[in-house]
Amino acid sequence: MMRITIRPFQEVRLLARPSRILRPFSSAARTLGTAETDTSVSSSSTASSSSRIGRISESLIRPSPTPHVSATEDKTTVSWPDGRTTTFDNYFLFDHCRCPKCFHSKTKQRLKELNQIPDDIRPVAVEVDNSGVHLSWSTSEEHKSTFPFEFLRRSAYDPPLSSYRDATEGRVLWNSKIAQSPPSVVYEDIIRSDDEALKSERAILKLLNRVHDFGFCFVNNVPATPEKTQELIEKIAPIRHTHYGGFWEFTADQSHGDLAYSNEGLPCHTDTTYFTDPAGLQIFHLLSHPSPPGTGGTTLLVDGFYTASLLSTLYPTSYSLLSRLRIPAHASGTEGTMLRPPLSQPAFRHDEKGQLTQVRWNNEDRGVLGQGWSAEEVKGWYQAARRYDELNKSEDAEYWVQLGPGTMLVIDNWRVMHGRSAFTGARQMCGAYVGADDWSSRRTALTKKHEIRKKSILDDDWSVGW
Ligand SMILES: [Fe+2]
Ligand SMILES: [Zn+2]
Repeated sequence: MMRITIRPFQEVRLLARPSRILRPFSSAARTLGTAETDTSVSSSSTASSSSRIGRISESLIRPSPTPHVSATEDKTTVSWPDGRTTTFDNYFLFDHCRCPKCFHSKTKQRLKELNQIPDDIRPVAVEVDNSGVHLSWSTSEEHKSTFPFEFLRRSAYDPPLSSYRDATEGRVLWNSKIAQSPPSVVYEDIIRSDDEALKSERAILKLLNRVHDFGFCFVNNVPATPEKTQELIEKIAPIRHTHYGGFWEFTADQSHGDLAYSNEGLPCHTDTTYFTDPAGLQIFHLLSHPSPPGTGGTTLLVDGFYTASLLSTLYPTSYSLLSRLRIPAHASGTEGTMLRPPLSQPAFRHDEKGQLTQVRWNNEDRGVLGQGWSAEEVKGWYQAARRYDELNKSEDAEYWVQLGPGTMLVIDNWRVMHGRSAFTGARQMCGAYVGADDWSSRRTALTKKHEIRKKSILDDDWSVGW
């Protein structure tokens, strides 16, 4: 296998703007030159460009003066003061009306069925003022909609106007140099008295923002007991129950038929690739590991998005294959459990905007691949997987850290891989999983409540459903 040496980052300013952080990738790519030597594999995937990773959001500024709006039988066209033009299907606009007949302001749910929209729906009158675009519709009963400008800019699809609140906003990709300044918060900021609930919420938001931005965060000064650890986790978000239970306490007793419950070293991986919806957060707290006699058990973290960005730059065809070919995974080592997602998923998954959203990478839990693939694809997938594996196991990517009692580690399991070195002695760990939707919901709701990073000027009815 070709040996890859990646020059360590010369300058990593971890808390700098993402545009500065992204610079080292091009230098890594320059170091390696054009190393693309993929075998020829036909690919229909469009997910191969590094540009989808770490793209910077365009900031939204309400245009002034007001745009010009015109409507025909089929579509409504908005000409913005900056010279750009977007077109909306009339059916789309009427479907998104948020008047009281169409939208329940308290439950934030649609009230209008699709069969209540006439096929030939079209505006019969158009007005524009500072509050937005007012359309009167061709319905038998009078029906008016008001669309705020920001909604129209944000929902524009023909063509899209902005990557509003991109999932990558704030994201910082990192390598081994993160050891110089890993993200952390302190326990006392989160666990406070009842009359400091707002301060506690802001500290939780800070923690979740760091997990979002870096893919992990430490919580320092946590009392080294299972009870206090569980209380802290439940304060952050609800614990997700799995076949391992809810909150877990770990000793190397093989109680769950998984290598995690042994004392062997574990290569970097993401957890629960055998779930349709892999765990969102993986949370660890090492409660005790007496030394001597206990040795080893150092924790390994690798930013799977960072290494994916390298793969995308160096071997775009390999990136494309890992984005397209679905890999079966399973968990079959626990009596009475035969987990296997009904829909297998590829290693890299992207959102509607083509941004990398999830890495599923677990060699140990990989099932029998190749069903429905061509012979070329099987060969190409192995080559791609070996390349990604090599990037993940490079000195450049690996961040090794010795955990100790009092330091809880929160990992975004959809992004950052974890592993550990082999160990001896009685190592006592505890922790829990949190669902991806649950921590994302908590972060979004706290952001809205505390108006941190709030970019939108849309009111409550227009800010949901994105
Ligand atoms: Fe794990
Ligand atoms: Zn309406």
